[in-house]
Amino acid sequence: MDHFTYRDGRLFCEDVPAADLAQAVGTPAFVYSKATLLHHYRALRDAFAPLDPVLCYSIKSCSNLAILRLLADEGCGMDVVSGGEVCRARAAGADMRKVVYAGVGKTDAEIELAIGEGIGWFNIESEQEFENIAAIAKRLGRTAHGALRINPDVADARTHAKTTTGKKETKFGVDIERARRFFKAYGKDPHLRLDALHLHIGSPIYSPEPYVRAVTKAVALIDELKHEGITITALDIGGGYAADYETGASPSFQSYADAIVPLLGDFKRGGGTVILEPGRTIAANAGVLLTRVQYIKQGGTKKFVICDTGMHHMIRPTLYDAWQFVWPCEPGPAFAPPRRAKEMGMDGLALCEVVGPICETGDYLALDRPLPPIARGDLLAVFGAGAYGMSMASHYNTMPKPPEVLVDGDRYTLIRRRETYDDLVAAEIDPTG
Ligand SMILES: Cc1ncc(COP(=O)(O)O)c(C=O)c1O
Repeated sequence: MDHFTYRDGRLFCEDVPAADLAQAVGTPAFVYSKATLLHHYRALRDAFAPLDPVLCYSIKSCSNLAILRLLADEGCGMDVVSGGEVCRARAAGADMRKVVYAGVGKTDAEIELAIGEGIGWFNIESEQEFENIAAIAKRLGRTAHGALRINPDVADARTHAKTTTGKKETKFGVDIERARRFFKAYGKDPHLRLDALHLHIGSPIYSPEPYVRAVTKAVALIDELKHEGITITALDIGGGYAADYETGASPSFQSYADAIVPLLGDFKRGGGTVILEPGRTIAANAGVLLTRVQYIKQGGTKKFVICDTGMHHMIRPTLYDAWQFVWPCEPGPAFAPPRRAKEMGMDGLALCEVVGPICETGDYLALDRPLPPIARGDLLAVFGAGAYGMSMASHYNTMPKPPEVLVDGDRYTLIRRRETYDDLVAAEIDPTG
C-alpha cells in the first residue's frame, strides 16, 4: 500500500494533487509521502517484533535529512557506508549506538570519525581493514565493535548481477571458511571487539528463501564459534527486502518475517541482538519523480517522449535494467491507469520510449512502454522513485539536481531546494582568479 492514488484521473500524493506540486516547485521534482514511509517502516518493525530487532535504515537508498529525521524519531537506527552518511545520521538525531557502518573501503579519516561518534558496529570486510580499525581504536584509546561480514554464497536468481552481493565472487565479506580463521586470529582483540556477524546478500531479494539459506549458515557458524568459546552477541542480516515496482503494493513483510524469525528465536532468547538494514522496502514506493514532457519525436518506428529528467536523476533503468511504472498525472484520453502493471490491457495505448535530455543513448526511463496519448507539456510520474533515485543522482551534463518535497496529508514541505547553476560550479576554483 502506498499513498499515491488517482482521483478522477488526477494523481494525488496523499491529499495533494501532483499537478499542484509541479506548479509550486517546478519539474523535475522528487515527491515523497510521509504516510507511506512511516507505514512501511512500522509494518516491517511489527512483522519482526518477536525478535525486537535494531532496524537500521539504509541511508544510501534515500538520504534526505528530513526523511532520516522522520525515521530517527521513530527510534530507527541507520546503516551507513561513508563518512558523509555518518554525518547525516548524526545530523538527523539518530542514536549513534544504533548505527552500523558497512563498506569495503573505509578510509582512516572515516574510521576516526565513526569511532568518535560512538557508532554501534563496524561491518568488517577484510583482515587488513580489521587491523586498521583496531589500530585506530587503540590509538584513540577507544573500544569499537566489529561485525564480520560473511559471504554465505547465496543469491536470488531475479536479482541483477550488479546488486548481487552474497556470492563468493564479490568484493564483499569473507566466505565461511575464512570467517573461522578470522575469529581465531582476531577474536580476542581488546580494541575492536569481534563479537558480531553481518551479511547482506543483495537487493532487491524477492523471496524469503535466500535469506533462509543465508541465516541458516550464519546461525550454524554462531553455534560453532560458541563451542570454541567465542560469543556472538549480534547478527546483522542486512537489507534487500523487496519493493514491488510493478504494482506499488507493499511487499509482504510478514512473509519475510515468517520465514526468518523462527530461525533466530534461540539466538534472541540467548540474549543476541538482531539487526536489519532495510532501504528500498521503506523508501522506493514512498516516492515519485515528476517530470514534464518537453517534446515528442518520431525516430524510425519509435515514438520518443522526451522528458526533463532521465538517467542523471533516476539511473536504475540504465544501470540495472530496472522497470519503473510511468504514467501521466492528469486526466487524458486514456484516464487513470486501472492499476500499475507491465501489461495494462487498455485500448488506445501506444509503445513509447520515455527518454531524458542527456547525451547518451542509454538515457531512458522506460523502453517499449505502452502509454496513452501524450503531448508536449504533459506531466508524468515515474513511480517507485523514492529509493536509489535522488541518492544516486548526478550532475552529468551539468544538470542541477531536482528539489525534494515531503507531503503530509494536505500539506507539503520543500525538503531540498532545486539547485541553481551557481551551485553547480560553487566548489570549482578558477585558477585565473
Ligand atoms: C550492506 C547493505 N545493507 C543494506 C542495503 C540496503 O539494501 P536495500 O535498499 O535493497 O534494502 C545495501 C544496499 O546496497 C547494502 O549494501
